[in-house]
Amino acid sequence: MDRIIIKGGNRLEGKICISGAKNAALTLLPCALLTDEPLTLRNLPRLADVDSFAHLLNQLGVSTTVEGARPNEFGRVMTLRASSITSTVAPYDIVRKMRASVLVLGPLVARAGEATVSLPGGCAIGMRPVDLHLKALEALGAELEIAAGYVKARAPDGGLRGGTIRFPFVSVGATENALMAAVLAKGETVIENAAREPEITDLAKCLIAMGAEIEGLRTDTLTVHGKDRLHGATYAVMPDRIEAGSYACAAMITGGSLVLEGARKETMPSILSGLEDAGAIVEDVRGGLKVSADGAIRPLSISTAPFPAFPTDMQAQFMAMLARAEGTSLLTETIFENRYMHVPELQRMGAEIEVRGRAAVVRGVDRLVGAQVMATDLRASMSLVLAGLAAEGETQVHRVYHLDRGYERLEEKLQGVGADIERVSDG
Ligand code: UD1
Repeated sequence: MDRIIIKGGNRLEGKICISGAKNAALTLLPCALLTDEPLTLRNLPRLADVDSFAHLLNQLGVSTTVEGARPNEFGRVMTLRASSITSTVAPYDIVRKMRASVLVLGPLVARAGEATVSLPGGCAIGMRPVDLHLKALEALGAELEIAAGYVKARAPDGGLRGGTIRFPFVSVGATENALMAAVLAKGETVIENAAREPEITDLAKCLIAMGAEIEGLRTDTLTVHGKDRLHGATYAVMPDRIEAGSYACAAMITGGSLVLEGARKETMPSILSGLEDAGAIVEDVRGGLKVSADGAIRPLSISTAPFPAFPTDMQAQFMAMLARAEGTSLLTETIFENRYMHVPELQRMGAEIEVRGRAAVVRGVDRLVGAQVMATDLRASMSLVLAGLAAEGETQVHRVYHLDRGYERLEEKLQGVGADIERVSDG
């Protein structure tokens, strides 16, 4: 298993290219199921999750070809073609490793009339049920049967029909499944209390490029006029706002300055205002954003919530940064019930953090010290890397495979801006 070894203390300065967004990629890939024509996705990040998703699609009969996989190039181009769907089953083995696999449900039922998808079960950060995904499909006329850990969904004769989907609370994945199903349903579908995350807008834009008719982009009500068929398209995945935010925290925690090439300001309003409140200077530069530390890190009070509020996927990285703030911060996690697994690891490095239910009180300390720490999930792992960059001495981050799911060429990108970081393989 690989480890990442960081010798902390270097001030980071330079330019980092922001990759295509993992969470956008994982909802754009299943769009290929909605048409028999080719869908070409550009700017796909090279990540383990993207490969796993392509593998799942292959099992369903989708062909995938990759170009642009030159060693020094960021981003890949993948052409996916579901000329015919040869299987409608997403097995447990794949879904348990990657929850986002559940996003084949909507498109499979819409195009093939049926899908059998393993229920994902809980994961490291919480229960994460998929009841809202299922309710959305029911609202479009699908019949559901749950047995032996699988959901079997079947469209009525004549296919899915438009309807009104009212989500009781915001779910990114359920909105994505609803949207991908509704584009091929007969008549009009209204999705109320839809997630407004930029990845949802990216999905809607890709579907529109494929011939779908969707109104209300960027709002919490999406109206879809169903089509009999969609066609092929070429679409570029949006830049990863969470990766950009993570490197912005790296600039802050090392007292440095980084240009985040490709980062899009409008996709990260609360991340940027949080950084500015913590004392960062954020500037628009050609093709991206520049984030620079300006003196001490100031403490913050932040609550996670659906977009445009502060994303849960940035909570751990901000916590690492605030561990070095001058003063006491309060973080509140409202989305997932168990998303503080990085806390004991950060404590091993000298951070003073106290968790009280959904709240975490972070008392800033003068110094963090390198230690052996264990990555527990993707964003938690990044918080350990950030702490390692600022810590005195050596930090070893174990279970690096979590990072590989969501950060493209992490060590390379950080080395390029002055970090002392390397990956070692224990064979
Ligand atoms: C997506 C993101 C993830 C991010 C999360 C919240 C992807 C691949 N993942 O996950 O990185 O942290 O949004 O921004 O895009 N819930 C239910 N029932 C459901 C669905 C969700 O109770 O049917 C709950 C979840 O347990 C959670 C909350 O709703 O507490 C929000 O989850 P959701 O927005 O659905 O997250 P994901 O789409 O799984």
